[in-house]
Amino acid sequence: MKKQVNVGFIGAGSFVSGYHLLTARDSELMKIRAIADISKETLDLQQKKFKPDYVTTDYKEVLADPEIDMVIIGTKHDLHAKLIIESLEANKWVFCEKPMAQDDQESRAVIEAVEKSTGKLAIGFNRRFAPAHRDMKKLIQSVKRPWFLYYRQMCPYVSKAKFYYTQPHILYEGTHILDLVCWLFDDVPVRVNMTGDFTDNSVQLEFKDGSQVLFLCGTMSSFLYWKEQLEFCAEHHAINIADMVDMRVRGWEGEFDRLYSPYLDEKKEEVFKYGFDFYDTLRSELIYRQTDFINQYNIPIEHVNRPAPNPLPYDIEKYDKSNPELQIFFPDKGWRQSLEHFAECFLSGKEPENASGIDGALSTELAVALMKSLELGQRVEFKSQFLKEKK
Ligand SMILES: NC(=O)c1ccc[n+]([C@@H]2O[C@H](COP(=O)([O-])OP(=O)(O)OC[C@H]3O[C@@H](n4cnc5c(N)ncnc54)[C@H](O)[C@@H]3O)[C@@H](O)[C@H]2O)c1
Repeated sequence: MKKQVNVGFIGAGSFVSGYHLLTARDSELMKIRAIADISKETLDLQQKKFKPDYVTTDYKEVLADPEIDMVIIGTKHDLHAKLIIESLEANKWVFCEKPMAQDDQESRAVIEAVEKSTGKLAIGFNRRFAPAHRDMKKLIQSVKRPWFLYYRQMCPYVSKAKFYYTQPHILYEGTHILDLVCWLFDDVPVRVNMTGDFTDNSVQLEFKDGSQVLFLCGTMSSFLYWKEQLEFCAEHHAINIADMVDMRVRGWEGEFDRLYSPYLDEKKEEVFKYGFDFYDTLRSELIYRQTDFINQYNIPIEHVNRPAPNPLPYDIEKYDKSNPELQIFFPDKGWRQSLEHFAECFLSGKEPENASGIDGALSTELAVALMKSLELGQRVEFKSQFLKEKK
């Protein structure tokens, strides 16, 4: 049996170089065979850092390479469907970043390509693999429906980035949470509603069993506040998850609150000792210290702190931003696990639990329906053309 998957990257920009390339480099399951990017500067940088067998400005070289088992697509979304289809035509396994497609037509073309290929497709909806979400999914199985879920995902740091203004936020970023909800509920909504504008939205999803989701999606928040919050309520049960690090569990006999390590176990000991406060203050402090980044926004912000009479029990000042270990101090959103799991399935022949092409299509279809609702100013029925194909 093969011991390592040979991976080829198409698109190695800011996200992929900070996450999937690190995972592939550090995992025993993968070997980085090639990196393709249209930017020579990016290729120079990644070649030095990740030492692939070769780099190329022509992604077709990656697709034509018989040594490559799996292609990881990390370009921006407008190329996703096209590159997935070409990779599947080359019978590669394909791991593609979200969103899978920009509309239902692209989704349909992807699904047809999956059916014809001997390769498999996974979409980078990593939140399914966040340890906190996996634990939550197990817990809620025993709870009587209807379920009520609130999710807040606000990313103030993207609000001024020009690229995001050309994208409906619900498609580009919101699909992460639309997929997470469908995965947690094992169902898709029957009616959807969205208010707001192009970047900041309040979303309601209604399910046939009466379950309801309220999702706040956009850019409105403080840089120093944690990005995501989940609250689940059902008969005599409640769960609260702050940024995938701190989980309150109420109503299950023998189950208790828990904390999760940040990504790559950074400062795990301190987080476990001091709790979410430590994660929150250190994360905020690191953002605060990125003065160039913050200055461009020209907004007044303060350090996160808790003064006397209840001061924080640790000295956040001692964690220096020049410490390279802290370059990625984020919650564990399941990035590493989702890619490693897909590679492991390639090697073992197991069926991947990653979001499939149909899941990718469903999340885009929901985002499109929500945009329709926004345009019409009313809630709309959601009848999926893809759901019946979900196995
Ligand atoms: N899962 C997550 O948590 C998460 C977080 C951030 C971004 N993302 C996703 O990652 C993807 C990339 O986002 P980013 O912010 O890193 O973008 P980016 O612009 O930094 O990177 C994209 C890269 O693709 C390259 N590229 C463009 N066309 C190409 C082509 N034809 N062939 C080869 N390379 C090409 C660009 O040169 C660039 O280096 C997006 O799909 C985004 O949604 C996912």
